[in-house]
Parts: sequence; structure tokens; C-alpha cells
Amino acid sequence: MTRARITGADAEREVELLSRVIETISAGLELDVILQGTAKLVTETTDTDVCFVHLLDEQGRMLQLRGATPPFDGLAGKIELGIGEGVSGWVAAHGQPAVIVDDKTADPRYRYIPALRGEEFTSMVSVPIVTPLGHLVGVLNVHTRLRREFAAADVDLLRSVAGLVAGAIENARLHQRLADREAALEAFAEQMVQWQEHESRRLAGEIHDGISQRIVSLFFHLSAAADAIPGDPAVAAEQVARAQDLAGAALDETRSAIAGLRPPVLDDLGLVASLESLGYSFPQFDVQVEAAQSRLPEHLETALYRTAQEALQNVAKHASAKSARIRLSVAADRVLLEISDDGDGFDVTAAVRSTGPAAPTGFGLPGMRERAELLGGRLTLSSVPGRGTTVRLALPLSPSAQ
Ligand SMILES: Nc1ncnc2c1ncn2[C@@H]1O[C@H](COP(=O)(O)OP(=O)(O)O)[C@@H](O)[C@H]1O
Ligand SMILES: [Mg+2]
Repeated sequence: MTRARITGADAEREVELLSRVIETISAGLELDVILQGTAKLVTETTDTDVCFVHLLDEQGRMLQLRGATPPFDGLAGKIELGIGEGVSGWVAAHGQPAVIVDDKTADPRYRYIPALRGEEFTSMVSVPIVTPLGHLVGVLNVHTRLRREFAAADVDLLRSVAGLVAGAIENARLHQRLADREAALEAFAEQMVQWQEHESRRLAGEIHDGISQRIVSLFFHLSAAADAIPGDPAVAAEQVARAQDLAGAALDETRSAIAGLRPPVLDDLGLVASLESLGYSFPQFDVQVEAAQSRLPEHLETALYRTAQEALQNVAKHASAKSARIRLSVAADRVLLEISDDGDGFDVTAAVRSTGPAAPTGFGLPGMRERAELLGGRLTLSSVPGRGTTVRLALPLSPSAQ
């Protein structure tokens, strides 16, 4: 492109525009403010009547009007164009400016958008907004009511403005992404605190309902044994034997309450072998494990293991099943765990209602669901009385896959 000769007055104007653009884009990180401000400056300084700034969305698929001078400023966010659609779409697709001096409707690139009132404007220039590294981030257009022969210098000036704005757009987007991330981290921290509280409640529940209960009975049997020693050694021996059983059970429960905090077996064996070993700890029914070996992030392995554990405990406690099956599969962006049994089944809706968030019981089903949601996943239950139960857990492999 040959550059038209710039007169002294033009050069002065150019410098003024560019320095004011720099001022506008340095004023803050609010993208829409920057774009509206730039549009206004451009029309004032280039002697044009309106200016539109269209931004490419982050997927690079659509152009969206984000900045415009009055009376079009209210349309920001409301007009979208595909790449290749209209003059702006053409500029985005080709990365080259377009100048139309008159008779737009005869130009095959032109597309009439009623809200933008093209019939009121005669000449236009459209330039790509490109970052110093060559990334297209949008398109900047100016229009004039009266016919105007835009010179190469005008186009160059607009390209310089677009170049400055491009950097500001990238900064603002980066800033937005950081702010989103920070918000996500805050939400995560809050969930962690809730999770910790939940874990303390679970532990307190296990100690209160399980372990202390056993110790109370243990005390009772030991007293009975003590009373019986002088007169009836056989009864005393029987009470002592019961006390031994209870001490053993209390020990088991203590272990499982502690293991509830962190399953060491995962570190020792990995997830698949841990699930198999979990299966063997339920001799009451046969447990089959179908799982492909694959390493998953630690926190997901813990969640999967815990869910399988609680589900199998439910099978043992409630289902009278002959067999159960654990299936673990990893798809592109998520992991699926399914625990099914051939037992009694139950009425899921009724059970969920009676174990709502306010219900004091059950770290069981509600706990499993909470854990799933905390990780951005989903837990579903299906059960038919008389025909068994299936618990399904789906977890996203990365937080962004939610
Ligand atoms: N596999 C299953 N087979 C039959 N009933 C089940 C099964 N899993 C859960 N249930 C029913 O759902 C209820 C809620 O389970 P859960 O929340 O784990 O609490 P808990 O096991 O402490 O009773 C159980 O009391 C039981 O009636
Ligand atoms: Mg349970």
C-alpha cells in the first residue's frame, strides 16, 4: 500500500489521536469502557460519523459488536457476525482492510443489518484489529454520512489505532481470566472448609454411634462378668468372650474411622487393586471388579474409592445381595464408576427425601452426593425393589470439563 503524503496538520492530528488512544486504553482494564472510549475518540479525530468495534470471541468463531459511538452504543453485545459475514466478517477472514467509497450495496461483501442503519452512511473503512504477535482480536470500522475518498494514510492511521487497542484487549481479557480464576479459587477454598466440617461431623458421628456404643456395651459385659466370677464362672467366661468380641469390633471401627480420613491402600496398591481388595472385604457376597488400569489424580481416586466403599457397605447392610459389581471406566474427559448389586433394592425417592441435607443421619448417600458435587461431578441412583440397586458416579477429569 502506498502511503499518502501527510500534511503537517494531518501529522499533528495523527499524533494527537494516537496519544489519546494510549491514554484511553491505559485508563483501566474494563474492556467495554476502553472500546467505547476508543470508538468515540476515533470518530472525533478522524472526522468520521460513527465507529464500531467488533471483537472476535475467545473461540475465534464470531464477531460481536462491543463498542460503538452514539446512537449505536446501546447495541454493544447485541450484534453478532460470523467470520466471512458482511464487510467486517470479510476483513476478519482475510486480515486485510476494506475501503468502500460509495454504493456499498453493490459490494458483494456488504450485508445489510437493519439496526446499524447502513442506508444513512455512504463511505466506510474497516480494518482488522491485530496484536503485535499477529493474533486477530477483532475489527474496527468507521463510516461517514457524506461520500469520502479515504486515503491510504487514513487506513494506516486506523490500523495503528487498532494495533494499540489490540494490546489493551488482550490485557483486559487476561485480567478477566485471572479474576475468574481467583473467584473459582475462592469458591474452592470455601468448599474445602465445608468439606472439612463435613469430615469432622462424619468422624464425630462414627465415634459417637459406633465406637462409644461398643465401649458402653463392653463395660456392661465386663461388669456382668465381674459379678458372675464368684458364683458362676461359666457365665463370667461367656461375658468375657462377648467383651472380647466387642473390643475387637471397637478396634475395627476405630481403624475404619481413621481410614475414613485417608485411604492408605490407594497409595500402596493404586485404585484398581484397592477396589479389588475392597471387594474381598465383603465375604457376604461376591464382588466383581471391571476396571482398566489408569492413573488418575489423587483426589479423584480417593473420591472413587470412598464412593465404592460406602456403596458396598450399603449392599452389605441393606441389600441381602448375592453379588455386586464395580465398573470403572475412563472416557475422554471424565471417569465413571458404577456399583451395582442384585439385592432387595429400595425406593430411591423416599430414601433421598428422608436423608435431605437437614437430616441428622447418613454420611451415606448424601455424603456420596456431596462429594460428587464438590468435584463438579454427579451421583445418580437407580433401584427397583426386588431387582437390585445401581449407584453411578461421573467425575470430570479436569475442572474445566465441568
Ligand atoms: N444397595 C442398597 N440396597 C438396598 N437399599 C439400599 C442400598 N443402598 C441404600 N439403601 C437404602 O437407602 C438408605 C439410605 O442409605 P445411606 O444414606 O447410606 O444410610 P444408611 O446406610 O446409614 O442407612 C438405607 O437405609 C437403605 O434403606
Ligand atoms: Mg450407608
